[in-house]
Amino acid sequence: MSTRSRISARISAISESATLAVDAKAKAMKAAGRPVIGFGAGEPDFPTPGYIVEAAIEAARDPRNHKYTPAGGLPELKQAIAAKTRRDSGYAAEASQVLVTNGGKQAVYEAFATLLDPGDEVLVVAPYWTTYPEAIKLAGGVQVDVVTDESTGYLASVDQLEAARTDRTKALLFVSPSNPTGAVHTREQTEAIGRWAAEHDLWVVTDEIYEHLVYGGTEFTSIATAVPELGDRVVILNGVAKTYAMTGWRVGWLIGPSDVVKAATNLQSHATSNVSNISQMAALAAVSGDLSAVAEMRTAFDRRRQTMVRMLNEIPGVFCPEPMGAFYAYPSVKELIGKEVRGRRPQSSSELAELILEEAEVAVVPGEAFGTPGYFRLSYALGDDDLVEGVSRLGKLLSDAR
Ligand SMILES: Cc1ncc(COP(=O)(O)O)c(C=O)c1O
Repeated sequence: MSTRSRISARISAISESATLAVDAKAKAMKAAGRPVIGFGAGEPDFPTPGYIVEAAIEAARDPRNHKYTPAGGLPELKQAIAAKTRRDSGYAAEASQVLVTNGGKQAVYEAFATLLDPGDEVLVVAPYWTTYPEAIKLAGGVQVDVVTDESTGYLASVDQLEAARTDRTKALLFVSPSNPTGAVHTREQTEAIGRWAAEHDLWVVTDEIYEHLVYGGTEFTSIATAVPELGDRVVILNGVAKTYAMTGWRVGWLIGPSDVVKAATNLQSHATSNVSNISQMAALAAVSGDLSAVAEMRTAFDRRRQTMVRMLNEIPGVFCPEPMGAFYAYPSVKELIGKEVRGRRPQSSSELAELILEEAEVAVVPGEAFGTPGYFRLSYALGDDDLVEGVSRLGKLLSDAR
């Protein structure tokens, strides 16, 4: 019998996506007839706007879209993404600097695969989105966590970043608005971090997928635009998923210097080739159109955000700073760990989340998934009534904690 392991060490090391796992468990319980309310999903609860769907239907009828197209994306979509980026964040990129990917996730994966050699360190602010560590690890990179907490609204300072920098640091991952915390850096903070990165010749990989989801007068600042000193050491990640309620269409992109884009395109040409032409034509309609659909979603999310944060902060032992972007709240539940709830004493946020799912039929994602145990992530991208019912159930259960 062979002594070789069946699965390679590199792939065995990848963890299951905790957010998708919670979502799957909640959906399975729902399918079994239990009235589960899920705060796990990271996607808008709105359908894709009609004009985008129509563009896809038309594209499906056009035989040109039935064939392979350039691996890096349809030229007209790359052009439109460059124009949209100039419009929305003021960053001037040529179409040749755009690579169209299978969702923002592929852009994350390809950015790190293209930039990192084994042992290169990447500074990642924790709490972080679950996909980043796996993408960095697969590229042979070493993630260095810069841990933040609720006391600073989950924002990292230049001093914290500098303390984590070594001579092996190659890149900083900058995510504002953040998944999972909803934290948004001010322009001044963004400039200070960008200048510090430029001063130390670091690359900045910036994930701008939540650029249009900011609330309460908060403004999104693109680090790429705000800090021209970064020059050609910046890679922007983005996509249509969150802005146009298009998570299932799988279109994202990466914008970077032409050598990076060329190399990443080579990688994609062997891995997946072009993104579905139908989805690319839908994305073309999305990014060429106006921003009225996201403005409507933003109004709904803002209302739900305020309700959720107020209700969470009314639960004893729960503390939730106000998230200013994306569609997540990230409360601390540290005070509840080890307390007795319905005859059990959960020893971690993960155990507490399991108990909540079983006892209150409410799904939340534990902070373990984002590198910071002691917290929950709750998405507020769900209907107002479900949101109120779900947080009420949570409050009722947790107020029994002794
Ligand atoms: C911060 C962040 N970046 C990128 C993505 C990727 O989105 P998609 O692959 O659906 O385009 C997500 C999705 O949850 C996200 O939260």
